[in-house]
Amino acid sequence: MNDLLELMRTRRSVRQYTAQEISDEDAKKILSAALLAPSGHASYPCEFIVVKNRETLEKMSHCREGVAKMLAGAAAAVVVIANKEKSETIIEDCSVAMMNMQLEAAALGIGSCWIQVRGRNAEDGTSTENYLRGILGFPENFACQSILSLGYPAKMPRQRELEKLKFEKIHEEKF
Ligand SMILES: Cc1cc2nc3c(=O)[nH]c(=O)nc-3n(C[C@H](O)[C@H](O)[C@H](O)COP(=O)(O)O)c2cc1C
Repeated sequence: MNDLLELMRTRRSVRQYTAQEISDEDAKKILSAALLAPSGHASYPCEFIVVKNRETLEKMSHCREGVAKMLAGAAAAVVVIANKEKSETIIEDCSVAMMNMQLEAAALGIGSCWIQVRGRNAEDGTSTENYLRGILGFPENFACQSILSLGYPAKMPRQRELEKLKFEKIHEEKF
């Protein structure tokens, strides 16, 4: 797909996946997109934990109440963490890395869904971040912002229409 706007129009959050695995080549492309993301002060504080192990993905699916269930059926997940000591813009840096990955996944025909970690709790009542730290072992000076679940779409939500975008939210010159 050559048109970026068309890619953005057709990208949707995909929460149901087939059993098809993601090739190492495609996984590398998605992770390259993450590493190509811009970063405040060029500090590049983000690091990425790629999880494909089924047992680990199942455990991770309990990191939120209800809204991380898709991890159990995902082909892979990318956990986005950032070194808090390296930057004051880790939320923004992780977010643009997430979006880059979502777009590259969509370009490859791979479905993805953003799972919020920061400020959320796991099913067992611990913070989602500490729950994941217990499974994945990232150190205390790394904050976990989000997880990207990945897999080939078993069910694809309806595509958006450019004509239905809320252009009334765009203000000319002043609010
Ligand atoms: C910051 C952020 C946090 C999100 N957290 C979750 C989440 O924890 N679980 C989930 O299923 N979807 C999550 N989503 C996906 C949104 O629900 C989804 O983007 C929204 O419904 C719009 O649908 P679309 O992505 O198909 O356009 C999140 C998206 C963003 C941008």
